[in-house]
Amino acid sequence: MTPHIHAKVGDFAKTVLMPGDPLRAKFIAETYLEDVREISNVRNILAYTGKYQGKPVSVMASGMGMPSIGIYSWELFSVFGVENIIRVGSCGAYTEALQLHDVLLAEKVWSESTFAQTQNGEASPFNAPSTILNQYLTESAKRARTKIHHAIIHSSDVFYRNDHMSFKKIYQEVGAVAVEMESFALFHNARTLNKHAACLLTVSDHLLTNEATTSSKRETGFTQMIEIALGSLQDCA
Ligand code: HPA
Repeated sequence: MTPHIHAKVGDFAKTVLMPGDPLRAKFIAETYLEDVREISNVRNILAYTGKYQGKPVSVMASGMGMPSIGIYSWELFSVFGVENIIRVGSCGAYTEALQLHDVLLAEKVWSESTFAQTQNGEASPFNAPSTILNQYLTESAKRARTKIHHAIIHSSDVFYRNDHMSFKKIYQEVGAVAVEMESFALFHNARTLNKHAACLLTVSDHLLTNEATTSSKRETGFTQMIEIALGSLQDCA
């Protein structure tokens, strides 16, 4: 039990799928898992453990932003024996090469966040996922015949920017093709604690064209990405 997760050590599987939205965690648990039980609901951050094709797996929401995923991933890795966290989130696209509902796998992440600097003094604006988890996810996507974009991601602390076109500079200078708000902190915590993390994203909105998916699709329209994550369990669980 931690301040933010009221579960017992042993309640979590070694691999946790982590959407931002608690209702998406519920949707994944109810749609895909067998023998599923709710193991924590502090602040409505719902967490479940069950089995997918016989493999134990947990699903827990991260909430939005780096402080939130920073707290939950730290407690999962350091107290609950979790080895792998696969974020399954949404992102905004920075380039016309991406369309709504495309699936991305983060290969590298850039951030202006002070999360790593504050946590342990690391000054690099870049972070990276686990190579081995990314390999499992890439193989799982191939088996599912789902196209994924291997991408550099911008992990941002601010959703509403004064200059809403400032992303063009980040796209040009860093090569980031999409923006979300969690992976930099997740990857930092995993590396710091000698654990594994990866990040799959579905494009939910487009910063060039202003198209956006609907909120009901935010909850249920992410099945391809979720199936890739679940399909990797045969290797990583
Ligand atoms: N900005 C930041 N995070 C996001 C976005 C966005 O446009 N879309 C989905 N996550």
